[in-house]
Amino acid sequence: MGLAGTLLRSRAVAALASPHGVDRYLELVNPMWAAHDVRAQVVGVVQETGGDHPVATLTLQPTSTWRGHRAGQYVQVGVEVDGARRTTRCFSISSAASLPGEPFTITVRAQDDLPGRPSVSRFLATRATPGLTVHLSQAEGDFTLPGSPATPHGAAPVLMISGGSGITPLMSQLRTLLRDGYDGHAGRRVTFLHYARTPADQIFADELRFVDRADNGVDVHLVHDQAGGEPFSVESLERLVPDFRETDAWVCGPAGLVEKVREAYGDSPRLRIEFFKPATIGTPSGATEGDVAFARSGASAANTGETLLAQAEALGLRPESGCRMGICFSCTSRKTSGTVRNVVTGVESSAPDEDVQICVSQPVGDCVVDL
Ligand SMILES: Cc1cc2nc3c(=O)[nH]c(=O)nc-3n(C[C@H](O)[C@H](O)[C@H](O)COP(=O)(O)OP(=O)(O)OC[C@H]3O[C@@H](n4cnc5c(N)ncnc54)[C@H](O)[C@@H]3O)c2cc1C
Ligand code: FES
Repeated sequence: MGLAGTLLRSRAVAALASPHGVDRYLELVNPMWAAHDVRAQVVGVVQETGGDHPVATLTLQPTSTWRGHRAGQYVQVGVEVDGARRTTRCFSISSAASLPGEPFTITVRAQDDLPGRPSVSRFLATRATPGLTVHLSQAEGDFTLPGSPATPHGAAPVLMISGGSGITPLMSQLRTLLRDGYDGHAGRRVTFLHYARTPADQIFADELRFVDRADNGVDVHLVHDQAGGEPFSVESLERLVPDFRETDAWVCGPAGLVEKVREAYGDSPRLRIEFFKPATIGTPSGATEGDVAFARSGASAANTGETLLAQAEALGLRPESGCRMGICFSCTSRKTSGTVRNVVTGVESSAPDEDVQICVSQPVGDCVVDL
């Protein structure tokens, strides 16, 4: 937007537009005009797989406020499904690193709808069409290759391991390396190991076959473990990459796969992990004792040991939530009494009247939340 953009971002214009902010007015004129917010229009949809949980890749043309992304980062995507209030979910960017204002892709697997709440992923994967406008955050996360994409860190080999839709951030990394010429010819060995249930569930199948056949020093291994492929084990990894413990690795996928890779690497800082769902670190004693009460709605039940968000939803409540990972704070609610444990950090807190992120808070014994 150039000069106009500078003007629109000025304090004087902000004061004139108060209390709503200039972006609320710009959006009404043209959803692709923004001074601060980031929005995008869907400009392409490609169906990757079918079945009960289809996967689709959406190409998003962001507003000029988009600052670009590094391969491996994710973005928060906000949509209003069927006129309901906006819901936000995180999606890793599947295309190569982007510059400010450049289009990029997300690749979404449709999860099941919850009763009374359509799933954002199912909406995006099955009903998004070109022209749909979505709200975005800037790119976030540090599941990235170190240094500049073109020269990540010398010619050291790289190992990428993924399962299911966890392929997306690694696909962005692979695409970036290949686009920037940082393949086997530049002295780098790239091993791309991916697990899908069957060939029909394989995302990016044609492109990965092409990358595998091309003379680029990239080894692609697609394992279909429900079609005779060998499931992940330390032994299978050792056969593929004998020196894997000395190889920088990135893993993203189902908790079971990530846990096995983590065990193989021990505490090694060479392994970087991305989760799509919070990784819980054990269940402490007392985590399934007592009752959980949601004071405002009058609902209560025996504590199941799940997060407060999951227990509220199981009781039919629909508290606001976004990332469901402790990232976006949209689920923050007041805990009036009881102890909660953060399932990501393991830290417990018993302070009365404290705000907690219910998506990552597990009640330990009796707990009352103002919901
Ligand atoms: C950093 C990050 C990056 C992500 N990148 C991607 C991506 O590239 N592609 C993608 O498809 N998803 C990705 N996700 C997951 C995504 O944000 C949502 O959690 C997921 O799409 C489900 O949201 P929903 O609203 O559709 O379902 P919800 O209404 O939240 O849940 C519906 C049902 O799906 C189940 N469910 C929720 N999340 C998951 C999950 N991740 N895996 C399996 N079952 C689930 C729930 O238990 C429930 O039964 C990412 C998440 C994070 C935190
Ligand atoms: S839903 Fe994002 S922090 Fe809880």
